[in-house]
Amino acid sequence: MPTRLILRRPDDMHLHLRDGAMLAGILPETARHFARALIMPNLVPPVVTAAQAQSYHARILAALPDGADFTPLMTLYLTETTDPDDVATAHASGLVHAVKLYPAGATTNSQSGVRDFAAVRPVLERMAEIGLPLCLHGEVTHADVDIFDREAVFLETVLDPMRRAIPELRIVLEHVTTKQGVEYVQAADNMGATLTTHHLVINRNHILAGGIRPHYYCLPVAKRETHRLALLAAAVSGDPRFFLGTDSAPHTDDAKESACGCAGCFTATNTMSILAEVFEQQGALDKLEGFTSTHGAAFYGLRQSRAQITLRKGDPIRYPACIETGAGPVTVFDPGFDLHWHVET
Ligand code: NCD
Ligand code: ZN
Repeated sequence: MPTRLILRRPDDMHLHLRDGAMLAGILPETARHFARALIMPNLVPPVVTAAQAQSYHARILAALPDGADFTPLMTLYLTETTDPDDVATAHASGLVHAVKLYPAGATTNSQSGVRDFAAVRPVLERMAEIGLPLCLHGEVTHADVDIFDREAVFLETVLDPMRRAIPELRIVLEHVTTKQGVEYVQAADNMGATLTTHHLVINRNHILAGGIRPHYYCLPVAKRETHRLALLAAAVSGDPRFFLGTDSAPHTDDAKESACGCAGCFTATNTMSILAEVFEQQGALDKLEGFTSTHGAAFYGLRQSRAQITLRKGDPIRYPACIETGAGPVTVFDPGFDLHWHVET
């Protein structure tokens, strides 16, 4: 069994960095191990225009620790009034690498998202023309659809019609949580999918059995074990359509541990150690680099990162239970098993 792993420095293709004191507090957690990350635009107010993305990009660079080897890849938040020309300019300048579609009301800060899919068709057609990928939060939001079915219903009622209408559009189905989602992507030529660290580890029992555990609550909500096993099989399969997007989404502890707690798991700190442990358990350490470091870059047409990280196996590692930020403490995701793969920095 190997005890040392050398990987291309990984990319996190779905990350929430927030802004202000929270950004300053949590950015080092990602910058320590990752080469690049695709930065989600669901700030308040959201990052809708190229000018807003430019200014958020500058704030992220300003918050980076000295000497950090990390590049933020910006996205735009799609609204029904998004201007196709602004999107095309932002893409042509190299600033923006994807546009994110949140169905209105689907998740944290998605009030400005899309209600009427016909309204965004001109933007989607333009994106198809210029080869700019669409990142999809793949859940319907109707109150009458059970929360555990929202991803599967989205595939049939939104994604499939969209792909038929604009077949050239390159789509990433974000944070897939169901077997149906995995199978949909496996059958599509021009799609990618991100898988989160936490959805490879937890099922819905972790959230609900023996007491409510708010730090395991995220959206899309974790499903039953059969679905987790399908995600795991996709992650270790070596299929380049599946790549890491941690969806690490910090909320302060008081916002999580509340009568109406926020959705999001914070996994930036220990993601690489967790993934090494999970891939090792599957006998698939040789597939880890593809999943964390090459498939995502290939999908987004980025050069493969030249820098490397080394993981070394040893005694269990103690990660902090919580990161203190100027906005308040943020609990680090607890995988529920020991982590032996230390990331050397
Ligand atoms: C994310 C957040 O907090 O911004 N929350 C989450 O549960 N994943 C939003 C999202 O990606 O859905
Ligand atoms: Zn997210």
